[in-house]
Amino acid sequence: MESDVDSVDSASSVDSVDWENLRAAARGALDKAYAPYSHYPVGAAAFADDGRLLTGANIENAAYGVTLCAECSLVSALVMSGGGRFAAFTCVNALGETIMPCGRCRQILWEHGGPELLVDTPQGVVAMTEVLPQAFGPGDLDHVREAKR
Ligand code: THU
Repeated sequence: MESDVDSVDSASSVDSVDWENLRAAARGALDKAYAPYSHYPVGAAAFADDGRLLTGANIENAAYGVTLCAECSLVSALVMSGGGRFAAFTCVNALGETIMPCGRCRQILWEHGGPELLVDTPQGVVAMTEVLPQAFGPGDLDHVREAKR
């Protein structure tokens, strides 16, 4: 079957991910969500580059704007369990359907996964470059720092 992935060196890297296990972990994380305001729990899961399975859920706040998306607790899990990079990511709604990460979370995922991160979407698995084209990232900071030297 043709892979949907853009800018990934081979389809085999996509196929080597246990997506069903990852989606099940995201569905399992839904129970942990704290979403008393939106009543829209989100569960997220990722494999780190060393194979660690990480999960996250959204954590809302009475001051709505400071709500933490599921991706925020996911990245905390990555950092606090030893760091590394996200290799494959998915997030789901309360129906267990795959959803797209919000704009802010795309930036967060970029920081900790970069262009090679594989992202599960309602239209199939794609590379992070397709989810956040022309992303701003650490390289932009390096570029100016180097030029000013
Ligand atoms: N939400 C996430 O957790 N991740 C996303 O990528 C999209 C939105 C949460 C935030 C809020 O708690 C709820 O979904 C409704 O917006």
